[in-house]
Amino acid sequence: MENGSRTAPENVEERIKEYVLSRSAAGLPTGVTVLTFGCQQNEADSEKLLGLASTLGFSPTDDPEEAGLILVNTCAIREHAEQKVLSVIGGFGRRKAEDRGLLIGVCGCMPAQSHRIEQLKKSYPYVDFSLDPSSLSRMAEAIGTRLFLGKRSFFVGEANPPIREGIAPLRRRGPLGWLSIMYGCNNFCSYCIVPYVRGRERSRASADIVREAEEMIAAGYRDITLLGQNVNSYRGDCDFAALLARLAALPGDFRLRFMTSHPKDVSDDLVGVIGENEKIAPAFHLPLQSGSDAVLRAMNRRYDMQRYRETVRKLREARPGIVLTSDIIVGFPGETEADFSETLRALREIRFDMVYSFLYSPRRGTPAAGYEGQVDAEIKGERMRRLLALQTDIASEIGKGYEGKTVRVLAEEISKTDPAMLTGRTGGGKLVHFPSPASAVGEFLDVRIERADAYAMYGVPAREPGK
Ligand code: SAH
Ligand code: SF4
Ligand code: F3S
Repeated sequence: MENGSRTAPENVEERIKEYVLSRSAAGLPTGVTVLTFGCQQNEADSEKLLGLASTLGFSPTDDPEEAGLILVNTCAIREHAEQKVLSVIGGFGRRKAEDRGLLIGVCGCMPAQSHRIEQLKKSYPYVDFSLDPSSLSRMAEAIGTRLFLGKRSFFVGEANPPIREGIAPLRRRGPLGWLSIMYGCNNFCSYCIVPYVRGRERSRASADIVREAEEMIAAGYRDITLLGQNVNSYRGDCDFAALLARLAALPGDFRLRFMTSHPKDVSDDLVGVIGENEKIAPAFHLPLQSGSDAVLRAMNRRYDMQRYRETVRKLREARPGIVLTSDIIVGFPGETEADFSETLRALREIRFDMVYSFLYSPRRGTPAAGYEGQVDAEIKGERMRRLLALQTDIASEIGKGYEGKTVRVLAEEISKTDPAMLTGRTGGGKLVHFPSPASAVGEFLDVRIERADAYAMYGVPAREPGK
């Protein structure tokens, strides 16, 4: 827990617990709701926030109306993400007016930027505190400062803070678990805000990671995703390939995933480890961003198409059938029609199973925001439509190839639309819907695929679950 805070009131954790009890005695809500707006790292941070809040006496709830503490875990990757968050925060003004003791904290990447902190200070007076990604562990201090000193606090950590072990995440995704292995990013892709809001790369010690993985496996987690902005530049006391090999050698019925990888850092050792270990899921998310070498250079990605193609070839050779997914940015400054056709050409040639595509969004303080040749919104939209149409065709064709086949699926949860159905994923990460009793959640099942479209597959278990 929090040690050595400079401004926190004495015994802050005990006093917060008493405060929560007093709210409960007064019939006021004492839940904690964490709303998550960002990437997987942000989701993993939300689990840590939830873990921290519950040690302070708040009980997790998904309903903000039942909360005495609302944490909004924000993302700054695109303008749209920030606008969405600001409107959600705006909506909590009413709750605060009804319940003055309700605590509202803004966490994550948005309040790592000074202009956003100024905005929170001025325009959102009911926000009690903010914690940037490196200050999450100061939650008790922030709450105590508000409750017992009557002050708001806006914490921004150093760019290179030491890793804090010992914040137990409260995982709530059934058999799926995030496992952070590193934090921050050193790459400074010219469009990206992440290195500015998450600081430099820091890797956890491999022994801490292995211990956490063992605990997760023993606790019944069946699908573990190693997380970092750039996992394949992991540099603890070993490199990423060695870490992955150690984790894949742990006993138990589980599979391992990792994200995100940077194409420039995919080593032959890593490809070898993926080829040799069945416990590593046959899935690789390898953001391409653009199919044009000129655009890749302007993005400061530090690989070209030739290198990328070569990596794809090696991965497919090492692990036949591996599911490849990617990210593409449409309308990067200076992207011409010819550049964009190279991206389409790359998609046709590589045939990713799935592509997450984003309209380029200028981010304050990043080099690309100042580049000449910003692309018109209309052209961006038109290119995006063409990309989506092409990728949907490719993904539907790939989906058809699964019809009639039997795939191994981890049953993850009861379907949101039909309680007789479960949803799960294949090792490749493909979504599968199938009829099964709720008791099968957390089990690996063989499912025969009857129908597949670009986004999901539908099938029936090949055997009764548990047999
Ligand atoms: N570290 C990961 C993920 C970064 S964020 C990586 O390197 O791939 C996830 C995706 O958001 C990126 O891959 C990129 O495609 C997209 N993205 C990042 N900044 C963006 C911006 N300014 N505008 C549009 N998309 C962006
Ligand atoms: Fe952003 Fe590039 Fe770092 Fe990914 S590798 S987080 S895209 S700067
Ligand atoms: Fe967003 Fe921060 Fe993740 S900016 S994408 S939540 S690292």
